[in-house]
Formats: sequence, C-alpha cells, structure tokens
Amino acid sequence: MIDPSILSSYQDPEGQLQDRLAPRTVKRYENLEWLSIVQKRTVLDLGANNGFFTREALRRGARRAVGVDESNAILGARELAQEQGVAAEFWQADLDSKEFRRFCPKFEVVFLLSVLTHVRDKEEFLDWLDGIVTYALVFESNHGERNKVHIDLIQKHIWFESVTYHGTTDIPEKPHHLWVCRKHNHNIRYPVIADLPVEFIPLDRITGWDEQTILNQETKYDTKSEQFRNLVADIKHRGIRTPLVLEDEREGRYKGFQGGHRFLAAKQLGYTNVPCRVMRGHFVKHLQ
Ligand SMILES: C[S@@+](CC[C@H](N)C(=O)[O-])C[C@H]1O[C@@H](n2cnc3c(N)ncnc32)[C@H](O)[C@@H]1O
Repeated sequence: MIDPSILSSYQDPEGQLQDRLAPRTVKRYENLEWLSIVQKRTVLDLGANNGFFTREALRRGARRAVGVDESNAILGARELAQEQGVAAEFWQADLDSKEFRRFCPKFEVVFLLSVLTHVRDKEEFLDWLDGIVTYALVFESNHGERNKVHIDLIQKHIWFESVTYHGTTDIPEKPHHLWVCRKHNHNIRYPVIADLPVEFIPLDRITGWDEQTILNQETKYDTKSEQFRNLVADIKHRGIRTPLVLEDEREGRYKGFQGGHRFLAAKQLGYTNVPCRVMRGHFVKHLQ
C-alpha cells in the first residue's frame, strides 16, 4: 500500500487511497456529461494527480487514457487503477520539461483540469499544447477571477472551432470554471476518418500531391530535407504505418487529403500500392 502522505490535497482528506471526494471539489463530480467527448478517442490527462479523470475516461469508452503528473500522486494513481482493474497509463513527468514535450505524442482529447495556473511559461506551454491536441481540450481554471484571463490566453494560442462554457465546478467562494474547446481541423469535421477501413490503392491513381503542394500542408518540409530522408528511411525499414487519407473521385481516381510526404516517399521507394483510408459520399460534400 502506498504511503498516503505523498499524495496531494486532491486526494481524500483522510489520506485514504480512495477516489478523493474532498468537500471543496465534490461539485465537480455532479455533472460529468462533458466526459462523453472521450468515446473512442485517446485521452491525455495533464496534471492528473490521483488519476480520477484518467480512469473515468476509460470507463466512459476512451480508446486509451494516459495521466501525467510530476508529483508522487502518480504512484497512487497507478495503484488505484490496478485496484479498480482499469487499464489507465500513468507517466511521472514535468510538463515544463523539454524532455517531456519532445517525447509526448499527439492525443485526440486533452484534459487540463486546474493545472494551467501551475505551469511556468504558460504561453510557451500552450503553443506546445496546440500541437498535441487534435480534437478537443477540456480546460478547467481553478484560479478564481483569473479564469477569464486563462481562457483568453488559451484561445490566443490554440485556434478553436467552438468553446463551450460548462459553468462553475466548485464551491462559490473559490469557483473553478470548465470549458470544452473543440479544435478547428480536419479531425473535427471528419471525426470518423480513423474508423474508415484501410484499403491498398495504386499509387498512380492518386492525384494532388507533388513537390510544391506538400509545402502548403500543415507540416512543411521539402523532399531535399533531412526530415524527408528520415521519413523515406523509416518507411523503407518499417513500412507506412499511418495510412494516407484520400477523397474518392470519379473514374477510379483519388485526391490526396492527408499524407503528402508519405505519398512522395512511397513513390521514391518504388511502391506501387499504399495503405489508405478513403473518404466517400457525405465526407466529400463537406469538403466544399
Ligand atoms: C490542482 S491539481 C489538479 C489535479 C487534477 N487535474 C484534477 O483536476 O483533479 C494540479 C496537479 O498538477 C500537477 N502539476 C503541477 N505542475 C506540474 C508540472 N509542471 N508537471 C506535471 N504536473 C504538474 C500537480 O502535481 C497536481 O497534481
């Protein structure tokens, strides 16, 4: 059994290794409807503490849930997950550290619940976070009147399609404020791309990608760069592990949508077919 004294005040006030329901935070658990956003998605819970929300994400249908915290509360989180038979992962890491930011992959939904106030360089952190969240950020400000400043800061650094205020989540004297912010990108418009089956499509039927067009993509680098050479080497060694995304066009032709660099790398390697997910029917209408 873990030493309860290492757990933060967010644990049960009696120091018991149970999900905390300390009086000041009880209200947060009254309405967890916003958690439905995690279904079938990957979730990163930054500043997870005892991991309540990480575990809850998995219970509510998340594909994967990872909690991160620099404190030893993460040990309690692991123990609770084990006790409760929940396959949540927990990493002990400092959000401010370069190592963590370099290593952390992208997640569809990120929770930032009562944590921004602790982060050292908030603007730098939010720029980094922009690259990590692909679908939505669930954000809670625990800093009383500063909540407005916090949400403005987040909106300055991360471009959202919609920001929904979910009200206060704590006692009136020191209210916490919760927002669900949905990012504006293709993954929002086409949330089911990941569910489309993978097909092998002949390379010579795919249009729209060349040396020039890949420079207009979100990730910009040319075919002479080291990054491209590394990509070619990686595909040669391990294959294309992330399928390309294509739009179905008439007469057996497809237009490139996501994966221009992988397409050009496959071409250079002499591949004839590549794994793809093809958007058909209603997807294509949304593109206009
Ligand atoms: C106020 S608690 C919120 C816990 C949890 N997100 C919740 O809402 O119940 C803030 C948490 O952030 C963690 N934290 C603060 N600064 C951090 C940092 N630089 N790196 C990782 N975790 C951090 C603390 O250890 C603490 O567990």
